[in-house]
Amino acid sequence: MPAIDVPAIRHQFPALSITEAGRPVAFFDGPGGTQVPNRVIDAMTRYFRTMNANHGGHFLTSERSDAMLARAHEAVADLLNADADEVKFGANMTTLNFALSRSIGATLATGDEVVVTRLDHEANVGPWQALAADRDVVVRFVDIREDDCTLDLDSFAAVLGPRTRHVAVGLASNAVGTINPVAEIIRLAHAAGATVSVDAVHYAPHGPIDVRELDCDFLLCSAYKFFGPHVGILYGKRVALDALPAYKLRPAEDRWETGTQDHEGIAGTLAAIEYLAEVGERYGSSFAEGLSRFGGRRLSLKAAMHAIRETEMELFGRLLDGLETVPAIRIWGIRDRARFGERCPTVAFRVGDRSPGRVAADLGRRGFFTWHGDYYATGLMERLGLADSGGAVRVGIIHYNTAAEVDELVDAVREIAR
Ligand SMILES: Cc1ncc(COP(=O)(O)O)c(C=O)c1O
Repeated sequence: MPAIDVPAIRHQFPALSITEAGRPVAFFDGPGGTQVPNRVIDAMTRYFRTMNANHGGHFLTSERSDAMLARAHEAVADLLNADADEVKFGANMTTLNFALSRSIGATLATGDEVVVTRLDHEANVGPWQALAADRDVVVRFVDIREDDCTLDLDSFAAVLGPRTRHVAVGLASNAVGTINPVAEIIRLAHAAGATVSVDAVHYAPHGPIDVRELDCDFLLCSAYKFFGPHVGILYGKRVALDALPAYKLRPAEDRWETGTQDHEGIAGTLAAIEYLAEVGERYGSSFAEGLSRFGGRRLSLKAAMHAIRETEMELFGRLLDGLETVPAIRIWGIRDRARFGERCPTVAFRVGDRSPGRVAADLGRRGFFTWHGDYYATGLMERLGLADSGGAVRVGIIHYNTAAEVDELVDAVREIAR
């Protein structure tokens, strides 16, 4: 029995009842972006109907809008176990990371080093390479273990050196689902005198995040991957944010939230977090043990993410059981069930010598929404030797997916393999 009542949850997501040619469709494209519950859609339209205004005015709509913005910062702080002033909104993770890397770059000297990984999304690599080109900074890569697509910690130890100033690492791979030992990486990086930024974009819809426990200096995520609209989020430890020069306009109060924000998107982000808190209230009680250090919404959110993780990984086991019976399938990432704690429910595979694009198109025609190519995990696809031949098909499980959808997807992959 899943920890969550999935049919009840599904009622809240209007897109899940889309049909194509009279048939239901199945969303296995969560790693590219999740669907949103009604309350997110309602919050965004409510913003326009009742509080649409710029920041800082002495009149009703501006005051309402500012109150909503304050509540949204508090909600993200609850989700991440941070303080509200450590939460910054922006266009998306990529844009925020370019801003962060530029600010960190302004503190670096020629020959200083930044460490990135072969497992990461380009959004956590490219900004540092752009910085290297601008400022004569050196970018060093942590390699992977090819057999299970995990980070090679010996390789990390080898690139970490006296000139390392910053480490940029993902919490989980958006291609093969690996969860990285980020707490350990942060400990080693701090011991070497480097700061650390964590890309939590892929992990955020799948499990609890605690920036205090991780002790990361910065963490980035995107609300559209966790049931909200297209809004990016940067967490920074207060001291870490304050220590950096920020590229801001003279009158702006906030050093990181540049220009006018996507207020309606932020209203939707707040509603997405309220949705998750409600999942915790309804289905999280059996996970509350061990979370006694949290109270109120922080507790509900942590419990929600534990309930979601259990629900998703159970379904993921079923998906993997099915996919492994498909002839000529090749699967990348951790497959050992005893090591499921090290992965998210996201899998990349190929079917014989069929092009991943053709397989995804075939699945799409049958109503199964999957992804193909490199999904911007470009360095990983290059490292695996898949970049020149179309990458791999990617299937991601979200807590709103059902066992029936998984079984039908596996049947469809089997038919395509024939
Ligand atoms: C792991 C990971 N990091 C970063 C990004 C980029 O996020 P954004 O689209 O908000 O720029 C993505 C988007 O797919 C991602 O999956």
